[in-house]
Amino acid sequence: MAGSYRGQPRQESGAPKPLRTAGQDGTVIVVLVATEEELPGARASLRQLGLTAPEVVAPSDTRRLLLSPVIDESRGAQVVTRLRSEGRLAVLRPAGGPQLGAWTRHTRPVLVGDRLAVCFAWSEHDRRGLANLVEIDPNGGFGTGDHPSTRLLLEALASGITGGERVLDVGCGSGVLGLCALRLGASNMVGVDIETQAIDATRRNAALNGFERRVQATRTTLDGIEGAFDVVLANIGRAGIVELAPQLLARVSPNGWLGVSGMAPAQCSLVAALLRPLQVVERRMCDDWPALVLAHRPFGHQPQSPKFAALPSSVKC
Ligand SMILES: C[S@@+](CC[C@H](N)C(=O)[O-])C[C@H]1O[C@@H](n2cnc3c(N)ncnc32)[C@H](O)[C@@H]1O
Repeated sequence: MAGSYRGQPRQESGAPKPLRTAGQDGTVIVVLVATEEELPGARASLRQLGLTAPEVVAPSDTRRLLLSPVIDESRGAQVVTRLRSEGRLAVLRPAGGPQLGAWTRHTRPVLVGDRLAVCFAWSEHDRRGLANLVEIDPNGGFGTGDHPSTRLLLEALASGITGGERVLDVGCGSGVLGLCALRLGASNMVGVDIETQAIDATRRNAALNGFERRVQATRTTLDGIEGAFDVVLANIGRAGIVELAPQLLARVSPNGWLGVSGMAPAQCSLVAALLRPLQVVERRMCDDWPALVLAHRPFGHQPQSPKFAALPSSVKC
């Protein structure tokens, strides 16, 4: 139901299969995320914490996951906290049973057609061959790609990014929207959020995806951000849009566009009215969640490349 952010089941069809469901001999598994180059150091960290030699799985050509069984869940949680305090990326997952099935479903990559994919960095699903993959470690920042309000703006990005755009991600959470824009060809991203955890998550995820030089994440309020942006994204709901409408408007460049989501369907007219003189060029729906794409021009945000003009003004997911 629109109006509250709850986890949604991930899509069933077309999603890559998990590589393995190993590790039945411990009650929980510590999953440590690394690259091939980081493997020796990651193994050493686990050894120092008293864990036995891990199994290593390779869900992509670059990603390596070290799986170490731990008999006791509270011990596993301590290990994860310790690894994270060392700057490593680790999570705890069930070793088997129905909980492992739920975990496996929850960690499926989110696919946006064949243009974009978002996946937890520690997911054991095979992600070779996924186009424009962004890996995410939310850890306190909202946004893994599977919530309809996020997904709708990912779809807008997948059809609207042509390359070179400056992107402002308002309420960046995990940074998922801005990072996906970069993966699709945008040039740089500024992410703002009121939560410190979100800023930390956005920076961490920028590094995870090799975008640290192209991402600025800040708790600065929106009126402290200067300049105009080709793409402004705001999955902040009706209340956030009511609060920030003048600043959002001021940040959209003359040929730029604004994507908003998180409100209820009945709130779309109010939101559109608040954001005038921008005009709604596209309305998307997923479940009970709407998203609006608005621009200064009636048809398409770039007259030379009218992407949105080619689309119907209302698209359902
Ligand atoms: C629903 S989450 C969206 C996260 C991510 N952008 C996504 O689409 O999945 C909304 C985010 O907006 C942030 N937020 C709420 N009000 C805000 C405000 N006035 N200014 C900046 N960020 C705000 C919250 O802290 C939260 O991280």
